Order: sequence, then structure tokens, then C-alpha cells
Amino acid sequence: MWKPKNPITYQTNPGRIPTREEAARSRLFSPVSIGASTTMEQRTWIPAMVPWRATEDGLVSDDVLDWYRRFAQGRPGAIVIEATGIRDVPSGPLLRIGDDRFIPGLRKLVDTIHEASDGHTRALIQIIDFLNIRRRPEPEKFFLRFLAITDGHRQAIDAIGWPEDKVRDHLATLSAEELKKALSEREWQDYQYGARERVTDLDLPHIRELPQRLPALFAAAGRRARMAGFDGIELHYAHAYTMASFLSATNDRRDGYGGTRENRIRLPLEVYRAVREAVGNDYTLGCRFLTEECIPGGTELDDATYFGVEFARAGMDFLSTSRGGKFDDAQQPDVGASVYPYTGYSGFECMPPIQSDGVGPFGRNAAATASVRGAIRAAGLATPVVCSGGVHNFEMAERMLSDGVCDIVGSARQSLADPDWFRKIRLGLGETVRLCTFTNYCEGLDQKHKEVTCRLWDKFQVKEAGVKLDKKGKRRLIAPSWTEPA
Ligand SMILES: Cc1cc2nc3c(=O)[nH]c(=O)nc-3n(C[C@H](O)[C@H](O)[C@H](O)COP(=O)(O)O)c2cc1C
Ligand code: SF4
Repeated sequence: MWKPKNPITYQTNPGRIPTREEAARSRLFSPVSIGASTTMEQRTWIPAMVPWRATEDGLVSDDVLDWYRRFAQGRPGAIVIEATGIRDVPSGPLLRIGDDRFIPGLRKLVDTIHEASDGHTRALIQIIDFLNIRRRPEPEKFFLRFLAITDGHRQAIDAIGWPEDKVRDHLATLSAEELKKALSEREWQDYQYGARERVTDLDLPHIRELPQRLPALFAAAGRRARMAGFDGIELHYAHAYTMASFLSATNDRRDGYGGTRENRIRLPLEVYRAVREAVGNDYTLGCRFLTEECIPGGTELDDATYFGVEFARAGMDFLSTSRGGKFDDAQQPDVGASVYPYTGYSGFECMPPIQSDGVGPFGRNAAATASVRGAIRAAGLATPVVCSGGVHNFEMAERMLSDGVCDIVGSARQSLADPDWFRKIRLGLGETVRLCTFTNYCEGLDQKHKEVTCRLWDKFQVKEAGVKLDKKGKRRLIAPSWTEPA
């Protein structure tokens, strides 16, 4: 991941620990509605986190059930299930919802969360579309197979009239500097990072037709989510994926879906309306989007406040913010690996690590989220807003609520470090919370597409009977259990 020049090492701390009575009176542990039909008992929220545990066919596995059961035992207000693909296309061990055959497994997942939390936790699902991305190619393969040879290449290497094979062979012998001149900017990037489709590739029919195809695909996924019994849906409009790319200031499509911010939000609103029609007005439907893309030329706060107000005005039941997490500034992957959108500066903003700059890792998205929420309230709308990023203690969460940053507090990594942390605080046992150290070991596993675990507990009692381990047999897959003292 990107590092600041002179990193400062911060430290997590438990903050002021409330007594049980104080916790009971707090904002954090007070109810909030997300839509007409769904009330959360408390304002604690576990944002989506991909754990790499679905089957290769994208189905809910026992490991997926174990992962979410463990979070549900901490009884947060809501858990958002990881980014789940809306298309019925192979995508490795990531959950999918692109066909009715996924519904029974997802129903089991909802039941597991409701049962494990004794009905205290709402289960939402994040639904996502993403475009094709290839691994960084081996140079030979790139020149022999992937690169489409054009007269532009022949001109660049002074080889007019050469047969294709000869051009390929010649390109493969060039130095990096010579190649950079011979290839187009896009081909150079494909060679360096692996080919990646963009929403602006209007020469590709399936990209050109995204605005015609996506509303129906999202709507069908939404219908399935409701059939599976989820309490609500979060449309994934954040980070590096299709819908965020439509919102992005870098989207210059010339078909009415790019350029001005009014055009860039058009498809996200059309998708929302299509899903709304499929799930009905009485069903919780919101989205996650970026306050800032944190890349050169990317979306900034004024666009995000506009998007937030428009989403709220359209009728979304909640809005969850994030920041950064883009492919545009990601680090070059190794040959054979895929580019990962959390390795550049925008990734640092998205999953802030403990080694940070002057702003620090805790509450990096708070000010921007407060602005978005302020604009929504100024427009006379009461849509609840969720903010995450470095939250790890009660004091910080409570302050975010009392300062008007948000209405619901999200905590991803702290909840992974200690899935019971809300419950412990609610019971006045805050001193027993295992604090996340924000070293991003979990994010490193995600990057390598390995089962995500936390370094604070994954080597604990690995030899005990009944403890499920990762594929290599070294790490436990879920946090050790915790029982409320008598
Ligand atoms: C392992 C891992 C997987 C993640 N997967 C997703 C995801 O599927 N969808 C999403 O919107 N954010 C995802 N995130 C980002 C988190 O939801 C959250 O925004 C980020 O970690 C910052 O919040 P935190 O400081 O509370 O961890 C993931 C984060 C981690 C660590
Ligand atoms: S591995 Fe655990 S302690 Fe480290 S950042 Fe992830 S959740 Fe926090």
C-alpha cells in the first residue's frame, strides 16, 4: 500500500469506556430506522467485507455461514454481506446473486444471521457489478497473443508491410523505453498492469450497452435478495467498480451517461429506480458511494454532496459513505497477479493504516461525510447516513453521532478484530474489547485472494478440536468465541 513520506505511527486506544447504564442511554445504542419497514436496534453497522469463502461457483458455503454467524453473535445493528455479483458469470470464491439458484444458500445465510443474533441484527446485502480485468501478462504472452497488431505499431517500429508475426517478434525484443513509444498509452498500461475494461470503452458493444443492461440485472438481483429474506440491499456505487466509475469525474462518455455530474449520476439513478420497482417501496434500499475518489482528476466533495442529495431525493433509505479505493492509482501487480484497487494513495484513504500522515487513520472520512449529510439535511431530507473509517472505540463512535457526522457508525476492521465489541461495550465491559491495530494484515490477505482472517486471533488455539482452519491448515477462520460473564 502507498505510504506517506514521513509516516507517523498512531495507536488505537479504548477511549473513555462507558458503564452499562451510560451505554444504554447513548446515541450509539439507540434505535434508528432505515426505511419504513426496517428498524435497527442500535446504530452499529458492519460494512461489507469480502472474506474469500464462497464456493468456486459463487454459492454460500459453510465457511461463509460460519463467518457471518460469528459477526452476528456480537449483535450489531446491521451486517452488510460482502460485495455480491449480480451477473451469472464465474468469478472465483466471491458470492453471486445472478440466478435464482443462488437464493436457497442466501436464504440460509439470512436465517443464520437472524438466529445467531437472536433477531437483534438486520442482514443487508451489497450488490455489485464489475468489469473484466486480466492478470498482468507474461511479456511473451502479451506480444504473441493479447496485443492486436495495427499499422500504428508498424509505423512506430519502421516496419511497414511486415507480416503480423514478424511485428510481434520484433516488439518482444524492444526495451521498456522503446516499447513505451511503440505502444499506445492504453496498450502500455495493459502490458504493465493487465488489461482492464473501463466504462468509457464505448468501442466495445457490451460496455456501450451498460446503461441498457444494468438496470435489469440489478433489478433481478434485488428481487432475489428480497426473496432470500434480506432486510435490505446496499447498491455498491463505491470504489473501483462499474457504478462508481459512472459517477467518477473521469467518466467522459459522450452518450448522455458521462461528462457533467447530472449525466454521471443518470445510470446510478436509473439502476436505483429499476431495483426499487422490483423490490417495492416497503423494502430497504440504499447505496454506498464515495465522498472523494482521492485520485488526480477524480470526484471531489462538491460532486459527492450533489450525489448524496440526489440519491436521498430519489428515495434511498440510507446512504453509506466510503472514500478512495480506485484502480487508477493502484500499484503495479506482479506478473500473473491482478491489480488491486487498495494499493495506491486512494487505497490508503479507503482502508487507512496505522502508519499514516498528519490526518491519521481514525475518522478520515468524517469531515467529508458530515458535509454530505449536512447538504442532505439542508435539502430537507432525513435519510440516515453511515460513516466508517478507523472507528474502534465507543467514544469516537458516540462523538461522530453527536457531532452530526452520521446517523449510523460503520466499523469493518474493528469488527473483524473483535466481533463482540459492540456487545461488550453495551454490557459495560469495554475494557475487554480486542482493539484492531490497523496494520492491514487482513487487507493483505484480501489482496492475495486468500481467506481473510485477523492477526490478533488467527493463530490462537489452532490445535483445539473443532477449530476450522484455512486451506494451508495454519490459521483459524473465525474469531475465538466469547461468552458473556454470568
Ligand atoms: C478484507 C476487507 C474486505 C473489504 N470488502 C469490501 C466490500 O466487499 N465492499 C465494500 O464496500 N468495502 C469493502 N471493504 C472496505 C470496508 O467496508 C471499509 O470501508 C474499510 O475497511 C474502512 O473501514 P474500517 O476502518 O472500519 O475498516 C473491505 C475491507 C476489508 C478490510
Ligand atoms: S488484521 Fe485484525 S488487527 Fe490487523 S487491521 Fe485487520 S482486523 Fe485490524
